[in-house]
Amino acid sequence: MCLLSIVGFCFILYYVVQLCVFYYLDSDLELYLLSKLGKPISTLQGKVVWITGASSGIGRDLAIILATHGVRLCISSRKLPELTKVKQECLTACGGKLHDDDIFVMPMDMLEIESHQKYFDKVVDHFSTVDILVNNAGRSQRAEWNTIQLKVDRELFELDVFAVINLSRIALNYFIENSVKGHIAVTSSVTGLVAFPNSATYTAAKHALHGYFETLQNELFGIDVSIFCPGPTATNFLQECFTNTPGEKFNKPVGSDDKRLTSERCAELYAIALANKTPFSWAGTRPMNFIFYIGCYYPNLRRLLIRFLGIENIDRLRNGRPLKAK
Ligand SMILES: NC(=O)c1ccc[n+]([C@@H]2O[C@H](COP(=O)([O-])OP(=O)(O)OC[C@H]3O[C@@H](n4cnc5c(N)ncnc54)[C@H](OP(=O)(O)O)[C@@H]3O)[C@@H](O)[C@H]2O)c1
Repeated sequence: MCLLSIVGFCFILYYVVQLCVFYYLDSDLELYLLSKLGKPISTLQGKVVWITGASSGIGRDLAIILATHGVRLCISSRKLPELTKVKQECLTACGGKLHDDDIFVMPMDMLEIESHQKYFDKVVDHFSTVDILVNNAGRSQRAEWNTIQLKVDRELFELDVFAVINLSRIALNYFIENSVKGHIAVTSSVTGLVAFPNSATYTAAKHALHGYFETLQNELFGIDVSIFCPGPTATNFLQECFTNTPGEKFNKPVGSDDKRLTSERCAELYAIALANKTPFSWAGTRPMNFIFYIGCYYPNLRRLLIRFLGIENIDRLRNGRPLKAK
């Protein structure tokens, strides 16, 4: 075999191996390697982490896994009874590593933007510091682009973008003024990487977060900024989703045969990303992970793939349903 054939063979083998890896993993390659060889979640023990949107789904499960590792928590969202339940679950899961005072329940509507500073001060009053802010509260969308009303565009951006930016700015100023080597994380989505059909406003909102927080990564040194992108995950998400009409919800509960990533696994990967301060990570099941990889690094191939699968099948994959023969 001549040298050129060997080089050609290795080149093809490299891509085949890479595509297989992305087909079988449930995260990006860096996060997978960090989960095996990186810092364990327990390195966060004793830190103060504020999770917004902690009453259900990824936020709730992130709170539980961090509590298991002795992380002190502020858990916030609008629903006090759900938050109180999450606190109890955290105290049970932590096996005595945390006491009642180590988990601060703070009912808060992210849309009360003018009160963000007051809420931030409450957390600092309780713990004397904040080490990590996890901007997780948010709502998705399912709607055809041409039917979406402007009021929905505005409401979605208010929650998923402006509220996140405002709270993060308060935290960043606190870190800088108090010489805290803090960490900001934002729950984006793979729709922040790949523009899937039928959620134009949501896709735009998550892309906006990438633009904003990637700028911070290039502008702030000494403060860590992580962007975490879950793929379709089995939470209340599709129930709470915006549609095209103001005030309406998509109302799709999680089905028993749901194929999406479990919220527990998504939260575990998120916690690993936090412990390792990854600037950018993603999570998702097969075959979505493969589509994210193609979407991220081969945009022309992504367009072909989406056309080949069809909008209905892409929707089915995102909603945890099996593919339909065309
Ligand atoms: N599940 C997925 O497939 C998926 C995929 C990609 C990205 N994500 C992202 O993951 C994050 C969490 O979503 P999830 O899947 O865990 O959905 P979820 O179970 O519906 O959780 C959403 C959380 O946000 C809170 N929230 C909603 N509106 C709020 C407001 N105005 N003020 C304060 N809190 C508010 C909710 O609590 P209250 O109702 O108690 O306020 C809830 O705790 C979101 O940012 C979402 O965009 C999810």
